[in-house]
Amino acid sequence: MSKAKITIVGAGNVGATAAYIAASRGLGDVVLLDIVQGLAEGKALDMAQAKGVYASAGNVTGTTTWDLTASSDIVIVTSGLARKPGMSRDDLLAKNAGIVKSVTEQIVRTSPNSFIIVVCNPLDVMTYVAAKVSGFKKNKVMGMAGALDSARFACFVAEELKCDIGDVRGVLMGGHGDDMVPLPRFTSVAGIPLAELMPQDRIDVHIERARKGGIEIVNLLGTSAYYAPAAGAVKMAEAILNDTRSIISCCAYCDKEYAIGGAFIGVPVVLGANGVEKVIQLDLNKKESAELAVSVAHVKELVSVVNTMI
Ligand code: LAC
Repeated sequence: MSKAKITIVGAGNVGATAAYIAASRGLGDVVLLDIVQGLAEGKALDMAQAKGVYASAGNVTGTTTWDLTASSDIVIVTSGLARKPGMSRDDLLAKNAGIVKSVTEQIVRTSPNSFIIVVCNPLDVMTYVAAKVSGFKKNKVMGMAGALDSARFACFVAEELKCDIGDVRGVLMGGHGDDMVPLPRFTSVAGIPLAELMPQDRIDVHIERARKGGIEIVNLLGTSAYYAPAAGAVKMAEAILNDTRSIISCCAYCDKEYAIGGAFIGVPVVLGANGVEKVIQLDLNKKESAELAVSVAHVKELVSVVNTMI
């Protein structure tokens, strides 16, 4: 592939951080877009100057103009409102649906062959909006949540075990909300099942903390997390651009899979040159299936609300 072009929509905390990570990792040429005059340009200039300290392979261009994003390989959508203390992700639905709709119309116009990675909340519903408005093939539209939520779970586990976080590999399913479904049965530490290393009551503590991981940071910061969400989005872009076929939990379209019946929802997938190459089918037990069903029902309910808005 010639040098990849990655557009990041929204130069706020998540967007700017994603641009910096993508450029630092040499993923390709990054275009950072924001409607606020000067914001993307200023941050891109700052990043260009950072290259004078630590050379990085990629360039970041800041702009307010969609035409500069033309023919992007991947578009990461971070625009939209973030949570403030006291808000749930669902509270953002109406505002962010309008933003994601108009952003997606521009993506269709300027980068009709791109992959779309959605990062704004409520994540699973916004991914649905991007897929519906774009009309792109379902393997080309996905949402970033599982990469973040499983990294959070891994962080808490590694902290307790005092081990390398990179050794902790977990799977997480369902919507990106309080009813997400971490799957400790499918979590291992350097190949050792988690249950061999930690009692169930401690696993449960970390599950609950991962479920509430977003609001924990909102309450500390006054706004939403951004380093780990940005890293999750770039990891997904990297898997597609480098065709790594990495197994990553992300929001992807499922129909027969897990009997979900047509919804974008968090599942483990293989990510490669065709985007979502495959949804991995796990043999869930009764409790896991029941938890997934609750989360899917919640996402479907929000989708029926958003359908009246777009
Ligand atoms: C979080 C936001 C990005 O979980 O949803 O931090």
